[in-house]
Amino acid sequence: MSDKVITLEDLQAHVDKNNLYLLVSGKVYDVTKFVDEHPGGDEVMLAEAGKDATEAFEDVGHSDEARSLMPDMLVGSFEGIELKKIKKASSAAVENAVQQGSNMMYFIPLSLLGAYFAWRFYSTGQ
Ligand code: HEM
Repeated sequence: MSDKVITLEDLQAHVDKNNLYLLVSGKVYDVTKFVDEHPGGDEVMLAEAGKDATEAFEDVGHSDEARSLMPDMLVGSFEGIELKKIKKASSAAVENAVQQGSNMMYFIPLSLLGAYFAWRFYSTGQ
């Protein structure tokens, strides 16, 4: 059972309080029975349903005790790469594009300035 592969579609079909999966560190957990007992409350868990809850889970600094509850709830592994990585990769691509754009923004005025000084230098030298 634990080697089952969970697709994004599966994950997003379990976003209900009575039928709730959470994706943490590439693994998918069925927290339906636990959600009412969760010391952090049900709302935070519901807010992370259908997406990668790793960051929210780690930000809280869950104890080893909290982590030890998780193997019993394991359903399987999330398909392919983690959602967080997809997000990171796409934002890196956007940053690259922005970076290239701003390089051009500096390059054009700087080369005009360079040309102006070169012209002044040569024209006053004569
Ligand atoms: C299978 C997943 C999860 C399990 C087994 C779990 C379990 C626990 C446990 C046992 C605690 C008590 C403190 C501790 O032992 O660290 C706790 C606290 C907490 N959890 Fe989770 N949790 C899970 C997922 C999440 C997620 C996705 C969030 C989203 C933000 C979250 C938010 C919190 C918060 C805010 C607290 C602190 C409550 C307080 O100290 O008042 N938990 N959790």
